[in-house]
Amino acid sequence: MKTVLVLNGPNLNLLGTREPAVYGAQTLADVEALCATACASHGLALDFRQSNHEGVMIDAIQEAGRAQAAGTLIGVVLNAGAYTHTSVALHDAIKGSGVTLIELHISNVHAREAFRHHSFISPVAKAVMAGFGVKGYALAISGLAGLAG
Ligand code: DQA
Repeated sequence: MKTVLVLNGPNLNLLGTREPAVYGAQTLADVEALCATACASHGLALDFRQSNHEGVMIDAIQEAGRAQAAGTLIGVVLNAGAYTHTSVALHDAIKGSGVTLIELHISNVHAREAFRHHSFISPVAKAVMAGFGVKGYALAISGLAGLAG
């Protein structure tokens, strides 16, 4: 059974209490359960992680690139949080690892503040998804499964 890595960046551990009008009422544990169901429906295993630390996220992306090269992983769904808008290092990690990656945002970042309109992730992502709420995670997993299948 191949794996999908769902990687969440800074402040996403606060889902459920953080700006619920923007991000909804569901917690990160709820999102993990939703992702597990989506993966199971495609015969995939889930590796679900969250970190507030850029270097930890870079390590996870490099690890995912090695796993994809070894044939044990089909790709990554990444919600990089605010690092989306700041991190050249995440851009380089995605590019350098060669991993297939879907950029995901719970909110429609393009309908929000101007500083959220630029993404360092988009140029190295296979696809970009924003604005579907937490249901976007399940849609992104289906999209990744479709790309791999
Ligand atoms: C986010 C959007 C980012 O701008 C923000 O910094 C986040 C969450 C989203 O899921 O909508 O932390 O990635």
